[in-house]
Amino acid sequence: MAEKATVAVIGCGGVAGYAHLPALVKMDNVQLVGVCDIDAAKAKEKADRFGGKVYTDYRKMLAELKPQRVHVLTPESVHVAPALDALKSGADVLIEKPLAESVASCRKLTGAANGERLIGIDYNYRFIPVMEKAHEVVRDGGIGDLLGISLACHNFCWHHCLDLSRWLAGPVTRVRATEGRKAQADPGAPLRAFPSHHPTVMLGHPMVASAQLEHEHGAITHITTTSQFDLQDLMFEMRLIGTHGWLRIDQVRIEDVVGRLRRFRTRHEEGGVTPASNGELIEFYPASRGGLPISFSASIRAFHRAADSRLAAPTSAEYGAEIVAIETAARKAVDEGRAVKLSEVM
Ligand SMILES: NC(=O)c1ccc[n+]([C@@H]2O[C@H](COP(=O)([O-])OP(=O)(O)OC[C@H]3O[C@@H](n4cnc5c(N)ncnc54)[C@H](O)[C@@H]3O)[C@@H](O)[C@H]2O)c1
Repeated sequence: MAEKATVAVIGCGGVAGYAHLPALVKMDNVQLVGVCDIDAAKAKEKADRFGGKVYTDYRKMLAELKPQRVHVLTPESVHVAPALDALKSGADVLIEKPLAESVASCRKLTGAANGERLIGIDYNYRFIPVMEKAHEVVRDGGIGDLLGISLACHNFCWHHCLDLSRWLAGPVTRVRATEGRKAQADPGAPLRAFPSHHPTVMLGHPMVASAQLEHEHGAITHITTTSQFDLQDLMFEMRLIGTHGWLRIDQVRIEDVVGRLRRFRTRHEEGGVTPASNGELIEFYPASRGGLPISFSASIRAFHRAADSRLAAPTSAEYGAEIVAIETAARKAVDEGRAVKLSEVM
C-alpha cells in the first residue's frame, strides 16, 4: 500500500473537534502528525483524543514536522497567514470557508501555491446527500434548463449557499443585495448569529438580508439569509426552477443533513394535468444518516483523494476567490445601494 501522507491541523476549536479530526483519523491514506492551537489546552485535548504532536506555534510545527498536508481551521479572519506559511513550507492546504477576507488575499494564496501546491476550500455542503442528488438531477436535465434558484438560509449557511448557487447555476456576473433595517431599530431582538463570520465578507446583518445573483448563462439566484431560523429545524431550503419542472429541497437540519428532494413537473409536460401537490419524491440512498460530519467527511476525503493523485481539488483557490468576490460584491451592493458587477471586485 502507498505511504500515508502526513497531515497537521492549525486551529483546534469546534470544527476541528467535531468534523476534521474525526474524519482524518478514519482515513487510511493519511496520518495525523501534528495539532496546533494558540490555546495549548485545546491542542492537548485534541491530541489526547485523536493523536498528533501538540504545538502552540504553527510555524514551529511546520518547520519541525514538515507535514505534506495542512488543514487551516482558524477563525475566518485568520485563514491567510497560516495558509501562506503552510504553502511556503511545501504543503498542500485544505482551508475552511471562506478562503480569505478579500480577493487580493485569495490571489496571494494562489501565488504562494505557484501552480504546484494544491489549495482546497471546504465547501462541504455540496456533499450533503440531498445536494449531491439535486446536482445530479439538474446536470442530467431532470428539470430542463435551470432558470432560477430560490434559497432561504440561516446566516451560518450563507457562505455555503453562495457556493451551492455558483456550483448549480454557473459563474455570477452581477450582484444586488439589501440588509433589512428592522434589527437596527430593534437591538433587543434575539440573535443567533455565529461570531466567527468575518464582518467584511459576510452580509453582516444579524436579522435578515437578501441577495440576488445574476448568472452568466441567464439564471438568477435569490437568497434570503437570517439569524432567526433554528438550525435544528432548518439550515436552508432551496427551490431549483427549470424549463420543465422544479425541485424542492427541504428537511436539511444540523443534526440530520440528509434532507428531502421532490420534483414537480410543469403542466405542459403533464399534458395539462395538475401535478399532485406533494410532487414526486426522489429517493436517494446515502451511505449513512446523520449531521454535518457526513458532508465534512466526504469533502475532506475528496480533497485528500485529489492530493493523492495530484489533481485539482473539487474547489480550487480560483474558485474560492470567485465566491469571495460574490461576497464582496454583495457587501458593496448594500453599502452603495446599487447592482455591482463581479468584474468591479475581481
Ligand atoms: N464548513 C463548515 O460547514 C464550517 C462549519 C463551522 C465552521 N467553519 C469554519 O471553520 C473555521 C473555524 O471555525 P470554528 O467554529 O472551529 O472556530 P473556533 O473559534 O471554535 O476555533 C478556531 C480555533 O483557532 C484557534 N486559533 C486562532 N488563531 C490561531 C493561530 N494563529 N494559530 C493556531 N490556532 C489559532 C483558536 O484558538 C480556536 O481554538 C472558520 O473559518 C469557520 O468559518 C466551517
